[in-house]
Amino acid sequence: MTQNDIIQRTTEYVKGEFQNDSSGHDWWHIQRVWKNALAICEHEKADGFIVQLAALLHDLDDWKFNASEDETPRRAKAWMEQNGIDPHITEQVCEIIMHISFKGAHVENKMTSIEGLIVQDADRLDAIGAVGIGRAFAYGGYKGRPLYDPDQPPQLHQNFEQYRNSRSATINHFYEKLLLLKDKMNTVTAQRIAQERHDFMVLFLDKFMDEWDGFGTRE
Ligand code: ADP
Ligand code: NI
Repeated sequence: MTQNDIIQRTTEYVKGEFQNDSSGHDWWHIQRVWKNALAICEHEKADGFIVQLAALLHDLDDWKFNASEDETPRRAKAWMEQNGIDPHITEQVCEIIMHISFKGAHVENKMTSIEGLIVQDADRLDAIGAVGIGRAFAYGGYKGRPLYDPDQPPQLHQNFEQYRNSRSATINHFYEKLLLLKDKMNTVTAQRIAQERHDFMVLFLDKFMDEWDGFGTRE
């Protein structure tokens, strides 16, 4: 099998796995991360095959949907092994998947490879802007979270434990993660795109707060 064949097979596999998702982690999210990662890749010196595999497989073993004992991305690893991918490449892709997720405002990013930094940027770009707003509320609904609770202030988490256990309202998620992403982009390409998406979220939050109390209460 050529590398192109493997990518093709992997898209079909991932499409099937994410078919009925309503948490914002559907196939279209994966496809955008894949496309965005390839676009960022054009401006960087990186291995395109590793970038594509990591982008396509990055959410298969996400901690938000799998209660796994350790951090090994089991399903992604099994898929690559079944398809005869070089163990060295499999290992690099697994390393990226293990470190891709945001784990709290004050938690250090452990991603080191350029391929990983690219896929992380592509994933984070899809968490902000108009699509990011839509995905945040989809995820909040999926988890049964309130839209907003004015009595519950956002928290900047010091560790992954706190972040994972948080049950706060979706609007808090903007302050706890989404508005922080602009300054956490790794590549210049992503930094540029993030700025515009960030500004749009700020505008959205302004409007949301304006409308929250009902128009009769304001002068
Ligand atoms: P990551 O692994 O970095 O969280 P994902 O690809 O899994 O990246 O995307 C995370 C998506 O899930 C984002 O769009 C984000 O808005 C949503 N999400 C995660 N946690 C929450 C939360 N507590 N409230 C609302 N949305 C959330
Ligand atoms: Ni993702």
